[in-house]
Amino acid sequence: MQSLNETLSRRGIDGDLHALIQTLAQCAGEISTLVRGGALSGVLGATESENVQGETQKKLDVIANDLIKNALAAQPLVKGLASEEEDDVVPANAEGRFLVSFDPLDGSSNIDINSLVGTIFSVLPAPTGAVDESAFLQPGANQVAACYMLYGPATVMALTTGDGTLMFTLDPNSGEFLLVEERVRIPEDTAEFAINMSNQRFWQPAMQSYIADCLKGKEGQRGKNFNMRWIAAMVGDVHRVLSRGGLFTYPQDTKNPAKPFKLRLMYEANPMSFLVEQAGGVASTGYERIMAIQPDGIHQRVAVILGSKNEVNTCLGYHG
Ligand code: AHG
Ligand code: MN
Ligand code: MN
Repeated sequence: MQSLNETLSRRGIDGDLHALIQTLAQCAGEISTLVRGGALSGVLGATESENVQGETQKKLDVIANDLIKNALAAQPLVKGLASEEEDDVVPANAEGRFLVSFDPLDGSSNIDINSLVGTIFSVLPAPTGAVDESAFLQPGANQVAACYMLYGPATVMALTTGDGTLMFTLDPNSGEFLLVEERVRIPEDTAEFAINMSNQRFWQPAMQSYIADCLKGKEGQRGKNFNMRWIAAMVGDVHRVLSRGGLFTYPQDTKNPAKPFKLRLMYEANPMSFLVEQAGGVASTGYERIMAIQPDGIHQRVAVILGSKNEVNTCLGYHG
């Protein structure tokens, strides 16, 4: 089996980007070891601090953030970074070619119950000039690479550099990511959806109707029975979609009128949309392609509907 390193060389990936991806993979290897140790690694439980989004930080949110931040700051190719756990953009190396946005630990609420968590990265080209927030405010279509690492029964990495989506598995013996699938394809049709049903009464009418029709099953207008899955970590749900298809959504809701959307554009929605589109899927807010959005802040949130092409398009049909 080919290692990540061999795969990137064979594909002729730009040397700088190659080196950066290796750094990201190395960070994930270290986080994976901590996750696997659980209580023995001292990574469970919460801190007393809150991040800029007003969420209590878990110990592992902070540990993973610091680990990645230090690794990227030491990487001359990185001009700046933006993280879910950093209030502001962090400048790195003035000569760097890339900007990296990341969610150091996705699915933090799962860590203490020994369930799925992961890390998400988005790589953008660095514009000339100073690194401030405006440098990061580029549409997702500008991304030069995106990946997630899922710390599950196996640690896996899904990666795209704009030429398909590749899947790797971390070999616990060598500590290297090995290529297991070169061209991931999301089946176009599915009978499986993922949504936090507890928010049902807060959704917009379009999502209410779409899910209601799925729930009517064979007897309803969809004419088939649907299955439901919800991991509460976007990495886990998107990994299932890449593995066997499905529709994943975190739609707009009115639960907290000050916060109509849950998922963050720069380090959740955009990189996942890139991976999904490169595997033949669709990623939309309901009204526009996620990767076409012109961002207005590094912590901006958006509605997300992604997955199997025909099913997402059916859902978009309800949005008019
Ligand atoms: P994070 O742990 O990085 O804050 O992200 C969690 C996100 C996302 O991964 C998941 O789909 C969603 O929050 C789950 O939220 P709820 O359980 O509140 O619905
Ligand atoms: Mn997250
Ligand atoms: Mn997170």
